[in-house]
Amino acid sequence: MREALAFDMYGTLVDPISVRRRLEETVGDAAAAVAEQWRSKQLEYTFRLTAMGRYLDFAEVTARGLDYALLATGQTIDETQRQELLAEYQRLAPYPDTVGGLRRLAAAGHPMVVFSNGTPAMLDALLDTTGLRELVPEAVSVDEVRAYKPAPAVYRHLTERLGHPPEQVMLVSSNPFDIVGATAAGLRAAWCNRSGGVFDTLGDPPDIVVDTLEELADALTRARETDRG
Ligand code: LAC
Repeated sequence: MREALAFDMYGTLVDPISVRRRLEETVGDAAAAVAEQWRSKQLEYTFRLTAMGRYLDFAEVTARGLDYALLATGQTIDETQRQELLAEYQRLAPYPDTVGGLRRLAAAGHPMVVFSNGTPAMLDALLDTTGLRELVPEAVSVDEVRAYKPAPAVYRHLTERLGHPPEQVMLVSSNPFDIVGATAAGLRAAWCNRSGGVFDTLGDPPDIVVDTLEELADALTRARETDRG
């Protein structure tokens, strides 16, 4: 049996760029600052809730992150604009390499799921609007354990849902904190370095580093050929 692949959603399979575009229409020159505060507060809230042993779902955390970002940058928008910005999260587009990469990985026989902080409703909407469901029919949400990445419980839950031991599951994510969380829980991990950034100085380095999912398909093909020797 090929190792199972679990794909992070936001920033790995789909590009949050359209949220940035919608922000530009809504708050003009403040868009970059709002976007940055929004993403960092959204993640910070997930980390803090999990550290506190509390849970609010990712739709709620995303909304509260936006509210904070608007307050912090002195922006005021009306409720319709706010709802439109939040709705943009359901309409994110796949990266140019996503469909081609997933197609090759599926053809190579890897069981594949999405594994994300997103709520089941958010992930279902994205799988349908992007058409990615044809390639990755199922999403495992951290909502099922009411804790966020990188809590070990969420990676254990993923391996249980897949019915594979951790060493036969590879997390594919652009987020270093997700990679470090997965390897700390005994999974394998491929870092898709979409932003050309540096890796964290915490935890083990990823098993594989690639820039795109097409490159991941190449790397796993090469690894299989080496194994066959
Ligand atoms: C996710 C976020 C962390 O999809 O990108 O889980």
